[in-house]
Amino acid sequence: MGLWTGHVLPRLTDRSLRAPGLDPLRERTCRGLHGRVLEIGFGSGLNLAHLPAGVSGVDAVEPVDAAWRLSAARRAASPVPVRRLGLDAQGIPAETASYDAALSTFSLCTIPDPVRALREVARVLRPGASLHLLEHGSAPDGSVARWQRRCEPLQRCVCGGCHLTRDPAALLEEAGLSDVTLRGGYLPGPALGRPWGYLHHGRARTGTASGPAAG
Ligand SMILES: C[S@@+](CC[C@H](N)C(=O)[O-])C[C@H]1O[C@@H](n2cnc3c(N)ncnc32)[C@H](O)[C@@H]1O
Repeated sequence: MGLWTGHVLPRLTDRSLRAPGLDPLRERTCRGLHGRVLEIGFGSGLNLAHLPAGVSGVDAVEPVDAAWRLSAARRAASPVPVRRLGLDAQGIPAETASYDAALSTFSLCTIPDPVRALREVARVLRPGASLHLLEHGSAPDGSVARWQRRCEPLQRCVCGGCHLTRDPAALLEEAGLSDVTLRGGYLPGPALGRPWGYLHHGRARTGTASGPAAG
């Protein structure tokens, strides 16, 4: 990993994703997490402050050492134990059906094969358990979507493989998760930022042994 992706980018990412406007969305996304939680694309640990009381521990999957180091103070302040379980969500080193809930925020845009990662998340979640998501991705408006397609090649080069056009609902469905309930909307701010600012947030569930998760 070079200087840019291994050192500079994790710091820039930490700064930009610390924007106070994201806190209420992080808080809402973490609501209802409980028990053993798996977080993919853990980054610098910006969700730790929003975990509800019912969480007993967090297993983090994060490939970038600098991001993990940046999370040190947040991990130390966390009332629950946090350990680094693995480096790649596309192959999670955990037993099948071993987590009560999972969390992904601003990670599906960057993971090279997000469907493979989501299938792994579905495998390690208990039947009927939820994945909580907050992701940026494809916008519904034609003009914004066109700018997303135009900007994506540069974005991928500069931002460590981050895509602008991924559709989280389609990825979840392709990975076989059910009860996908995602809401979408633009972050407040200038229209120029819209290609980066369309957020999808909500949940999806693993099927139960007898079929898709009940409501
Ligand atoms: C935009 S950052 C989001 C960080 C954090 N989730 C947050 O909300 O602040 C995307 C994260 O995904 C991580 N990532 C990239 N490829 C990954 C992979 N294959 N498996 C797990 N995480 C990955 C990156 O290192 C980075 O920390």
